[in-house]
Amino acid sequence: MVMRSVRYGVLILIGGWSVAFAEELPGNKEVGTGLYRTHCVNCHGVKGKGDGPVASSLTPPPADLTQKNVQQKSDRELEQIIQEGKAGTSMPAWKGELSGQQIQDVLGYLRTFGE
Ligand code: HEC
Repeated sequence: MVMRSVRYGVLILIGGWSVAFAEELPGNKEVGTGLYRTHCVNCHGVKGKGDGPVASSLTPPPADLTQKNVQQKSDRELEQIIQEGKAGTSMPAWKGELSGQQIQDVLGYLRTFGE
């Protein structure tokens, strides 16, 4: 009986944690800034305008992340694109490279381009 209630306690704790994480989305934009500068800036540019150093050699060019058509997308949609990449473009899939939390953090930073 004692063991059972201990087990329930642990379950409730884990459940509580995942709710706490879910509420943090999108993630930490300060952490995201560093990730963006490392992984995204070459294509999307320092200010997200799609004008990074390699942008002019890409067809189609990198998205201008400051634009409404990007910022209007939901967190879920943008998360999906960052995870899976964009077929037919040079936008890579990041899910092997970045953790789920890191993708949320970078997304938190992308949202500042719309402010
Ligand atoms: C090799 C160049 C390259 C790199 C590196 C890159 N991107 Fe992209 N990205 C692109 C291209 C090209 C597109 C597609 C533009 C289009 O749809 O015409 C794109 C599209 C996107 C979009 C979708 C915009 C939309 O509304 O469809 C998001 C969001 C995005 N990139 C975020 C990121 C993030 C975050 C990183 C870094 C983790 C990153 N990109 C790294 C080239 C790049």
